[in-house]
Amino acid sequence: MTRTFKLSDGKAIPALQWGNGTGGLNGKHDPALEYGITALKTGVKAIDTAELYKTEIATGEALKQVGAKKEDIWVTTKVSGSHIPTTPENLKANVQERLSNLTFKPDLLLVHNPFVPEEGKIAQFWTILEDLVLDGTLEGVSLGVSNYRPQDLKAVLDIARIKPVVNQLEYHPYVLSHLQPVLDIQAKHGIITEAYGPLTPLLRHPTGGPIKPILERIANKLTKETGKQIDSASVLLLWTINKGVVAVTTSTKPKNLEKIVSIEDLPDLSKEEIDEIEQAGRKVYFRHYDEHMTEDFPEPDLPSDL
Ligand SMILES: NC(=O)c1ccc[n+]([C@@H]2O[C@H](COP(=O)([O-])OP(=O)(O)OC[C@H]3O[C@@H](n4cnc5c(N)ncnc54)[C@H](OP(=O)(O)O)[C@@H]3O)[C@@H](O)[C@H]2O)c1
Repeated sequence: MTRTFKLSDGKAIPALQWGNGTGGLNGKHDPALEYGITALKTGVKAIDTAELYKTEIATGEALKQVGAKKEDIWVTTKVSGSHIPTTPENLKANVQERLSNLTFKPDLLLVHNPFVPEEGKIAQFWTILEDLVLDGTLEGVSLGVSNYRPQDLKAVLDIARIKPVVNQLEYHPYVLSHLQPVLDIQAKHGIITEAYGPLTPLLRHPTGGPIKPILERIANKLTKETGKQIDSASVLLLWTINKGVVAVTTSTKPKNLEKIVSIEDLPDLSKEEIDEIEQAGRKVYFRHYDEHMTEDFPEPDLPSDL
């Protein structure tokens, strides 16, 4: 079974995705190809790549080498760069490069960051991308954004003829309090959240914090119920997709890749379990990927080290 969510443009997006932007893959073609092939062979149904990662060619090649039909694998890429001059010619050339690197049209194209467009030109940038959908260049490609704060979403939504279908963000229980204004806008406009760094509480928080024992308890319960060895990382990814959020994780290890893929076979968490993780997570504020997300977007006054 592949869990999917319905996007506002009607397409079904896989809830669980494998990214080739981190885990030692960023910027190197060969590992992204090798691990992309392993990921697809293990059963991954969606790949998250980007201009910035320099892994688009490897993504297209991995699909080709395993003989995957494009329609069976969801591919997201992103227009990256910084302060790209916002002209139709520039954007058309950039987008054509994405298509030619991949050798097919992606299912979803994101603006990687609010600072990809030139200063103050988020709205114009979006309008040009919309024109590329409407003139056929990006026909059938869903449009979305990444790392957009409330003010960035507002700039786009004020003028959008095509609303972004997703906003890809660092998302996990320890950023929920900070993200609430973003999540409120997204709920109003039917914008799905995509979580990158979803395993941050377990991998990057110094102690794992208050959700760690809860995840362990649920992992033990699921291990007994299913007879399979379920770990806390699998429970956290299951929590993410049970929140209606696309989980963009990654792994280069066959064992972890298998665990990621087999999340599809796990039963959903109960409402009580989902809420318990969320309530414990909301007491902490801890983020790994800073960049601009905290600029002009106030952080909650919460401890990071509970
Ligand atoms: N839009 C953006 O600005 C942005 C920013 C960052 C990332 N991303 C995207 O999101 C993807 C994932 O980001 P992320 O790396 O931060 O995600 P993550 O899910 O928080 O962390 C992935 C790491 O978790 C480890 N892992 C996986 N399963 C595990 C398990 N069962 N137990 C223990 N460790 C496990 C993997 O290491 P092993 O290889 O050792 O298994 C991997 O390096 C990226 O590749 C990229 O495509 C986007």
